[in-house]
Amino acid sequence: MGPFDPPSQGFSAILYPREPSKQIGTHGLPDDEVPNHAFFPHLDGLWTGPIPKTASEVDDWYAPKTEHFGDRSASVIGTNNSPLFQDPDCTLSIGSFTAFVGVVLNDQPEFGYGNFAVLRGAHHHTAEFFRQQRTEGGLIGPEGHGWPRLRRAGDDGVGLTYLPDEISKHFEENAQYTPDGLMWPEPTPMLVEEGDAFITVHGIPHSGTRNELGADPRINIYFRLRRHRPGGATVRGDSDHPDRGWNGEFLDYPDGYNPWQVAIDKLCHPWSEWDGMQEVVSEARVGLAPC
Ligand SMILES: [Fe+2]
Repeated sequence: MGPFDPPSQGFSAILYPREPSKQIGTHGLPDDEVPNHAFFPHLDGLWTGPIPKTASEVDDWYAPKTEHFGDRSASVIGTNNSPLFQDPDCTLSIGSFTAFVGVVLNDQPEFGYGNFAVLRGAHHHTAEFFRQQRTEGGLIGPEGHGWPRLRRAGDDGVGLTYLPDEISKHFEENAQYTPDGLMWPEPTPMLVEEGDAFITVHGIPHSGTRNELGADPRINIYFRLRRHRPGGATVRGDSDHPDRGWNGEFLDYPDGYNPWQVAIDKLCHPWSEWDGMQEVVSEARVGLAPC
């Protein structure tokens, strides 16, 4: 990956053993209706917060303007600390980083132990999707081309669009469907032991899952690392919106450095931040369109 700021922060993600519940998630469905131990693939860096509860409350599925979204400026911060828009001009609505690192603190030997799970291989489609958004013009992220911020879910319910259809459509094979027609792709769970670690790129849709089988809490420690960007912010190691402060505050940057433009470039070309992967990627891409 090349040089990066050593993390000063990480975060623990503890999933206590539990039964499926009726609680409706921000994806819009009751927990017990989501297949695959409630795997709902998402990208990191997305605003999350209270949203309209019924479809009739939604004024605009693409760019909702109800009170939940405040004045729709870059100052609106989610309950997950992620801004509604990254930049003051609201051209970017997703935070990003280079690598997601998980360190495993208890055994998770089979799917059902609260495993971290991924949509394997989807990072290629994620990068392609961002390039498509850039080509179309307008926002990068939710509210940009092909990515309505809200979607219908369940019986007259509403969910945040955690993954645009353009990415998930590549995973119809072995997918399951809920009665509302939503597609739930098959995850690849991390089957891991205490002391293991795993690394993904930001563009891998992923999710924690329900811990139904474990007698103990599922405990992982996570870091969000970013390859050093000359002129860029110092990265703490836990944030999914490292171009802003942890609480969403705007940071100072050197004249001429546009952190939003750099972030968009890296979303569109994530492998450019992985020095050690250049040969592997170019070999794998022989015969494919340049990326
Ligand atoms: Fe995540």
